[in-house]
Amino acid sequence: MNTALNRRSFLRTSSLAAAGAVPAWFLDYRESMAANRISLSPNDRPALALIGCGGQGRGVANRASKSAEIVAVCDLDERRLGEALKSFPKAQRFSDFRKLLQRNDIHGIINGTPDHWHTLINIAALKAGKDVYSEKPLTLTLDEGKRLVRVAEETKGVLQTGSQQRSDERFHLACELVRNGRLGKLTDVLVNLPSGPRGGPFAKAPVPPELNWDVWQGQVALTDYVPERCHGSFRYWWDYSGGTMTDWGAHHNDIALWGIGQERSGPVSVEAKPRIDMIPGGYTAYSEYEVHYVFANGVKQTTQSVVENGPDGRDLKKPEQGHFPHGVKFTGTLGWIFVTRGRIEASDPELLTMPILTRSQRLYVSRNHMENFIECMRTRKAPICDAEIGHRSVSVCHLGVIALRLKRKLRWDPVAEQFLDDPEANAMLSRKMRKPYDYSLVI
Ligand SMILES: NC(=O)c1ccc[n+]([C@@H]2O[C@H](COP(=O)([O-])OP(=O)(O)OC[C@H]3O[C@@H](n4cnc5c(N)ncnc54)[C@H](O)[C@@H]3O)[C@@H](O)[C@H]2O)c1
Repeated sequence: MNTALNRRSFLRTSSLAAAGAVPAWFLDYRESMAANRISLSPNDRPALALIGCGGQGRGVANRASKSAEIVAVCDLDERRLGEALKSFPKAQRFSDFRKLLQRNDIHGIINGTPDHWHTLINIAALKAGKDVYSEKPLTLTLDEGKRLVRVAEETKGVLQTGSQQRSDERFHLACELVRNGRLGKLTDVLVNLPSGPRGGPFAKAPVPPELNWDVWQGQVALTDYVPERCHGSFRYWWDYSGGTMTDWGAHHNDIALWGIGQERSGPVSVEAKPRIDMIPGGYTAYSEYEVHYVFANGVKQTTQSVVENGPDGRDLKKPEQGHFPHGVKFTGTLGWIFVTRGRIEASDPELLTMPILTRSQRLYVSRNHMENFIECMRTRKAPICDAEIGHRSVSVCHLGVIALRLKRKLRWDPVAEQFLDDPEANAMLSRKMRKPYDYSLVI
């Protein structure tokens, strides 16, 4: 802290303390937050940093580089860093995201790390005055989400969740029709997710010399290195993620909430059961499951895993046969609409082809998820999938994962974000975080 700031703080403390006003340290914090954020004029190309250089992070950074400069890359795996530097040779390399965040010429970050690292990095970036494009699923726990939403509000940072289906015209069309009553009264939502792998048992192996396995594990209790726990397949371990329930669920449950009109709320009950047991010593997140939710407006949602191209040779990709691949099916008193990537269908084609004549609801329009983020960095408006929406979408997934583990019906208060009369379930809203990779890392 510089001397001028110290003197200002002192003067404020002595003159305002008696009046019970906002303390000086907080005013200084607000000032420094404002000073940290470098403003962007309409023609500036923002400077972005990529943290987490796996396939997804690099893909997103490549898309961002059409309108932004990728000035820094960060990873705990030297090989991954090398791959990122091939695409962005001028970028500065980092292995510690906290050092990267000290660069004050960076406007924003792309967070492509595994799920268990998203929140701490996102909170640290927002507190350092950076905007954030964070991969989904936005969080590992409901508690992380609540904290992240608070920090996004306090810092006024722009946070776009990487649930890019919101920027796709088919998903927008489906939700706009449902929200404007095209299906009559919406009664049921079916969310089909790909089933996950049921692999194992897996053997431990020597840690690759290029990887910092200790830091990679972050908040999770240290275990031996098992290749299947690490890059890519971390998502099938409950320690780091929630299986396809959170991986694909973050996409399709997000669309379901958008269509139901509950994107800043959630269900009031959840009940779940695994359809198959996992193999001891193998992946821990349930690979096949079904979850039933009820919303306060009476809509019932089933989220289930589906085996596409099943062993009996059924072509599950043909909705007219009554089987749906992964995607979202909205059913109301007048028919149904099914939407997935690259495809939208309805029980009667006219449900889609008739224009909406009287709109009671207009949904946010974004034609390109990354461009929407960059535009919002300039305008300071909320992006299409802001922190709360990203948190609420993955909350539906986390509720499903908790219900699957407890195997009983749970009642949920979406306002207080607590289970009702259920201390065992409420204890699962957060997890024990290994020090120093807990919230104290980013205070
Ligand atoms: N939006 C989409 O459609 C989509 C598609 C694929 C993946 N994703 C999401 O993107 C994220 C990454 O997925 P992936 O398949 O690229 O994973 P990955 O495991 O291949 O890559 C993650 C990278 O992050 C690095 N990393 C881990 N902890 C770090 C830390 N603290 N600091 C810096 N680097 C760190 C790892 O070493 C690794 O290189 C996941 O959350 C996943 O759900 C989203």
